[in-house]
Amino acid sequence: MNKIFKNHKTILPSPVNLLSSHLLAIEGMQKYEIEGLLDRANYFANLDRHSDTKKLSGYVVLNVFFENSTRTRVSFELAARRLGAEVINISLINSSIKKGESLLDTASTLNAMRPDLLIVRHPHSGAPHLFADYLNCSIINAGDGRHEHPTQALLDALTIKRRIGHLEGLKISICGDIANSRVARSNIHLLNIMGAEVRCIAPSTLMPLNLEKLGVKCFYNMEEGIKDADVVMLLRLQNERMSGTENPSEREYFKFFGLDETKLSLANSNAVIMHPGPMNRGVEIASALADDSNRSLIKTQVEMGVAVRMSIIESLIHTKTKGLEK
Ligand code: NCD
Repeated sequence: MNKIFKNHKTILPSPVNLLSSHLLAIEGMQKYEIEGLLDRANYFANLDRHSDTKKLSGYVVLNVFFENSTRTRVSFELAARRLGAEVINISLINSSIKKGESLLDTASTLNAMRPDLLIVRHPHSGAPHLFADYLNCSIINAGDGRHEHPTQALLDALTIKRRIGHLEGLKISICGDIANSRVARSNIHLLNIMGAEVRCIAPSTLMPLNLEKLGVKCFYNMEEGIKDADVVMLLRLQNERMSGTENPSEREYFKFFGLDETKLSLANSNAVIMHPGPMNRGVEIASALADDSNRSLIKTQVEMGVAVRMSIIESLIHTKTKGLEK
């Protein structure tokens, strides 16, 4: 099954006509949009790295990060460069905000540079939506507060599809700091749309209230939540978003919610392991499992980040201009 999706080359997938010229959240996206983006990303993932994909020459992409990032920022930059666009990286972690400039002033300054696309990561939920309201270009949300991280969910979906072949019907257990995770929220929406069974596992202090309303099953015991899972997705303890009282001790956390061989043996015998990174070995996951090349897809996730972001950037510019040749 997986070979069929991974090596699919007969029909060349086109850039997708999206419903919006922004990618702010997975919530509200249609299944055909997600499938189209994944098919096109799969095509990019199968290309030789030196293939000519430079269709966006002359386009300007601003990578604007108000929060630290390594893999997301670099993979957006690589993706835009492989498409031939000009990329400018702007780190605003220590600059304008600290000088007291309001987010709206920052938005209008960036708008004056006339970018075609702006990629934004911000510690506050909803900041990319504000940029979308005030700028003339397309906006991609590269992670906003605890809200969403849509490109991470798309790259996770591509990683699973290339390994297992499909998403529908899979049992996917997301384990860790769900309350503070934008990755969890975007994955829950995407996996629901694609027909997977989503389970969330967390200590009660790190499980959001009323999560069941999003159509997931909640477990407070990892052994129960992981049973027969096809995919085990681990999340980092995001201490920077915790107020203090909910911080568990790392040793206790690993004992009850860290993935080790014993807990993994309860999952499906072919279950794969994922983590969006950065990961804490010995806290969320035993080091040997993170490096187990048969079961861990953590490095593939990073690799698929570039292909997925190429597909998203191309389709957003295509949607906005409709003039891009296929
Ligand atoms: C995630 C994020 O920033 O939300 N990381 C990422 O984008 N690869 C998860 C995290 O920081 O733990």
